[in-house]
Amino acid sequence: PRKIIIDTDPGQDDAVAILLALASPELEVLGITAVAGNVPLALTSKNVRKICELAGRPDVAVFEGCVGPLTGELVTAEYVHGATGLDGPDLPEPKMQIQAQGGVDFIVDTLRRAEPESVTIVALGPLTNVAMAFRDAPDCKAGVREIVAMGGGFFEGGNVTPTAEFNIYVDPEAADIVLRSGLPITLLPLDVTHTCLTSRQRVEAFRAIGSIVGDAVADLLDFFERFDEEKYGTDGGPLHDPCVIAWLLQPELFSGRHVNVEVELASRLTRGMTVVDWWRVTERSPNVHYIRYADSEGFFRLLTDRLAKL
Ligand code: BDR
Ligand code: CA
Repeated sequence: PRKIIIDTDPGQDDAVAILLALASPELEVLGITAVAGNVPLALTSKNVRKICELAGRPDVAVFEGCVGPLTGELVTAEYVHGATGLDGPDLPEPKMQIQAQGGVDFIVDTLRRAEPESVTIVALGPLTNVAMAFRDAPDCKAGVREIVAMGGGFFEGGNVTPTAEFNIYVDPEAADIVLRSGLPITLLPLDVTHTCLTSRQRVEAFRAIGSIVGDAVADLLDFFERFDEEKYGTDGGPLHDPCVIAWLLQPELFSGRHVNVEVELASRLTRGMTVVDWWRVTERSPNVHYIRYADSEGFFRLLTDRLAKL
């Protein structure tokens, strides 16, 4: 199986992504590092453990990473995810412990001990933990096979400001470090995740699984989708982070291009924007496999089939 580290800030969609990963024998989860993002770190780390226990996997090693971005104050998104970050179902308080080692140290140690180019970093939140590891221990990059991240948006605009997507906006300096790392990067931006909506029918398919996990996922998404439904009148909300895991499992469901992507760090209006050279009009070399389209029916079929195995 492909070795992965999941770095995440649950978040209902992060939770579904973690469940999809744990349900998939093609992936070996070496550890999960929590980062501050949708809600503060104390809650994201608790939420990761709630989800591992829901999946029947209390053996997964969970670490706490950074409490806030490399610079400036933490921006959170309780208005989308609720006060706990995981509003919706009534999940029990986790019994699992957090590992004593810090999340950034875990990433560095794991990559240093790994075979060259063998570990995939799956980034579902702000890129603070990953950037800290690369900045403080650049030699650890040798262990990375690829970084696959949910973040950014170009054609679709932003979801926090008119031009910035949440994960990049919360820590643009971290995103900049990762995008300049020289490592292979696949990015799943809003352009693709906004086409993967949790319609009523799709949520009912999760409930129809008839398991504790199926019901919990349906409850999570019933809560999560209300934000987009009320604000934008869509049928369902965008299931961002699970797209990353689906891409690892079935890349043929997605298509994109190798392009240059840079993050705006300075502008008052566009800080955190991912500037994509889609038509290669600059001399800047491609650094990102930028995903543009998804087969959303295929994606939800994969997700439903896999969740039914938990
Ligand atoms: C991203 O921001 C978070 O709210 C979601 O979990 C996702 O990772 C979407 O912009
Ligand atoms: Ca997330």
